[in-house]
Formats: sequence, structure tokens, C-alpha cells
Amino acid sequence: MRKLPHSATLVNKYSHKNRKILIIYTFVISFFRYRQAMRINRPMASPPRKCIVMAKKLYIETYGCQMNVADSEVVASILKDEGYLYTNDISEADLILINTCSIRENAEQKIWNRMKQLKSMKKKRAQLLVGLIGCMAERLKEKLIADGQGVDFVAGPDAYRELPGAVAAAEQGKKSVNTILSLEETYGDISPMRLDSNGVSSFISIMRGCDNFCSYCVVPYVRGRERSRDPESICCEASELFGKGYREVTLLGQNVNSYRWKESGDVMDFPDLLEKIAGIDPLLRVRFATSHPKDLSDHLIEVIARNANICRHIHLPAQSGSNKILKLMNRKYTREQYLERIGAIRREIPDCSISTDIIAGFCAESEEDHKDTLALMEEVGYDFAYMFKYSERPGTRAAESMDDNVPEDTKITRLNEIISLQNRLSEISKKGDLGKSFEVLTEGVSKRSAEHLTGRTSQNKVVVFPRNNIAIGEYVRVTIERNTSATLIGKVSE
Ligand code: 5AD
Ligand code: SF4
Repeated sequence: MRKLPHSATLVNKYSHKNRKILIIYTFVISFFRYRQAMRINRPMASPPRKCIVMAKKLYIETYGCQMNVADSEVVASILKDEGYLYTNDISEADLILINTCSIRENAEQKIWNRMKQLKSMKKKRAQLLVGLIGCMAERLKEKLIADGQGVDFVAGPDAYRELPGAVAAAEQGKKSVNTILSLEETYGDISPMRLDSNGVSSFISIMRGCDNFCSYCVVPYVRGRERSRDPESICCEASELFGKGYREVTLLGQNVNSYRWKESGDVMDFPDLLEKIAGIDPLLRVRFATSHPKDLSDHLIEVIARNANICRHIHLPAQSGSNKILKLMNRKYTREQYLERIGAIRREIPDCSISTDIIAGFCAESEEDHKDTLALMEEVGYDFAYMFKYSERPGTRAAESMDDNVPEDTKITRLNEIISLQNRLSEISKKGDLGKSFEVLTEGVSKRSAEHLTGRTSQNKVVVFPRNNIAIGEYVRVTIERNTSATLIGKVSE
């Protein structure tokens, strides 16, 4: 009996023959096309057929702190790789992301209100998708997609790499919630897409999460454990920004001075990282936020003092001036220790500005405790402050074990006293700058006058000065002539 050839051999035999025919055919066709092209003098290849695929558009609305701004830039970059074009016009967006904040109750209330508006927007635009991301997403999880809120998916701060999957599922009508927190995620390998940028200054996230557990604060619960980003990727991002013309980077983290990177026995802490970034170029200014007073080391102060391009501004939240309240807040320093650190800054960096965060009306705060806060503010003479009324956050140690017992009207009265004191201190700080000359990094055209530019001093004070021929991104020396409540006004002195 004749043996049948193996099927693979058959295929090979026939494909070999076919290939020969194909080569001859291609050669003949090419020859004729070449002759024709020469005759009518047109390019040989036919022009590509137009295939119009409308890219989908993404719009992100960011609430809360600078970390959220930096996160939105990471998210835009992740979705850009999925073909989403970023738009600043919400009316043309196919996908709207709301990057949320949970730090105080009113921050969340704002987002609930915004969700109602988006829900009615969705009624008019059937294809529109809405995702909630960030801290409130982490805190409230499923509650945000329940009850017909009009939200298609929810993603916590460590789930942004999974956003393409959540969007694809939402396109199929499937709602999803991903709020898994990570011990490692830093998004260090993702090059953020700069949104709303002035092309001069930018944020760089260097760490995520917080392990401090201040008793009032929700951050450790919604942003998870503290982790530091690989210094190489931070330096690359800073160098890249400098190469693109940026002249200022702000290194961001919930508590930047506990930054610590350890690899094969080598340790890099925050002062070393800061000095490394400052070493990229003397024309690159470096800022950082936020510092915890308990971690503000002498080494860090020395590094700032010896590098002219590390900005002379430290944001050092005190929260309260009362030792009793600081203890209840679990801040891990006393008023005396805080003031000792302020003394060290003043001694080593005399031209350094100092700003703070203050909470009014924390649990069990007496009138005397409040007076201690006012006295501390006066003693330090802050240049600037962010001031808040205590807002109980579910799940925090204060909410679990302390009584939110300062009446609302007392909280408001104390906050107003704190604000009016700070207004006076800020005015004193600005008056002290009159007649002095500062190096100012030009950031843009003044909103009030096209004939003026605006920029900031190393101390983070806003300066307005006549435009002349100065370019945005340029350093200029400005002598301060007068001030308003918000800005210094001067003239270019060189
Ligand atoms: N209530 C009021 N203010 C708060 N902050 C953090 N949590 C609360 C809260 N529950 C303030 C602190 C912190 C800043 C970012 O927000 O002052 O430094
Ligand atoms: Fe919140 Fe305290 Fe951490 Fe700052 S240091 S994020 S206030 S827990």
C-alpha cells in the first residue's frame, strides 16, 4: 500500500512551489508599475488610504493637595498610552475622571455636589463615562457606585495602572471598584503628562503614603503605607524637565523628610536626594513639601544652607501650639522641640521663609490651648499659613476614641482669630521685604495686567514686575517697592 505523505511535508511542498510563482508574479508586476510610473511621472506607491479614527478624549478634575495634582498627571499618561487624548474642555470629553480629596468633610461634600452635576451631564450624553479616583474613592469604595450616582468606576490611589481595564469594562456597561492599596507602588517608571503647566515649574512625586497616623488624619488610611521612589527615576524626571526648559521642581510627599531608599546596602535619605537633584544644574530650583517637624534633621538644614538653588522656604506644619493638643494629635513633638527646630532654621538659613498648617478646635482644645497656638504663631512669625477648622474623619484615631467636643461656633471664632493673626504676620513679612532685592523666577504674565510679569522668590513669595523684554522661565533681580495683601510689587534692578 502506498504510504500517504505526511501532511506537513505536503504543505511545505506546495508552499515552496507557490513561493516561486509569487516571486515571478511580483517581479513582473513591479516592472510594469515602474514603467508606468516613469511614463506619467507620479510616485510609485499609492498614497495611504485615509482611515479616520476619532481619538477618545479625557478630562480630569483634580481636588485637594499637590499630590493629587501629580497623580492626575500620572493618570493622564497611563490613559494616553491607551489612546486617550487629554482635553481641557469638559464638554468634549468622552471620559471624565474626578480625582478626589477626603482630608476634611467639606472637601468630600464638594465632590458629592459635583457628582450630581455630572449625573445630569451623563443624561444628555449617553456615551459619557465618569470615574472617581483618589482618596475619597479609597475611603468610600462601593458606596460611590451604588444608589445610581452616575459613577461608572472607582479607583483608589494605588490602582491607577488598572484604569485601562476599568474604562474598558465601563464601556461594556460593567461597573468596577478597585481600591487595593500597595506596599510598593510609586509609579516611578511612568513619565507624567504635564497638565495645566506653565512650562517653568513642575511637581515630582518622590514618595507615597504616610506612616505617622496623626490622630485627626485620614491620609494613612486612604493612601496606605509610606514608600519611597527609586532616586534614579526621580533624577531622570528632574533632568528631563530641566532639558525641556523647566526651571523649578517641587519634590512631593506626605512627609518628604522621611524619604529613604535602600538598595543592596546603600541608603539614600532625603537630604542626599535633595542635594543630588540640586546638582543637576544651578539654574534648576528645587522645592519640597511637606516636612514633618520631627524629621527635620540638622543634615537637611545644612544641605539647604549650602545649595543656593534649594529654595529658602520650609513648610513645617505645627498644627497646634499646645503640648496637650500636640500629644492628643499624636504629632510626636512638643512645642519646645518645634521651636528648637525653628531656631535651627533661622540660625543656619537666615533668609528662609517658614509656613505652617494650623488646625483650630481639635478635640478637647481649651481657650488656653488656643491661646498657645496664637502665641506660637506670633513667636515664629510665619510668612504664610494654611488654616483649618477641625473636621472629624471616620476611621481615624480621633474619631474612634476622642470626643469632637469643641462647639462649631467656637471652632469658627478660633479659626477667624488664627486667620486674622496670620494676615497681620503675612503683612509684617511682606513689609520686611520692601527695598530688598530678590532673584525671581518668571512664571507668566500677570492676570491683572498684560504689561506685567509674575514670578516667585526663592522664599516662595509672589512678585509682580514690569514686563520689559523678559522671557518666561528667565531669572531676574527685582527690587521690591510696595506690596498688596497677596503680592510683592517691584522693578527689575539689573
Ligand atoms: N481636620 C482639619 N484639618 C485637617 N488636616 C488634616 N486632617 C484634618 C482634619 N481632620 C489638615 C492638617 C494637614 C493639612 C494637609 O490638612 O493641617 O497638615
Ligand atoms: Fe496626615 Fe500626619 Fe501623615 Fe501629614 S504626617 S499626612 S497630617 S498623618
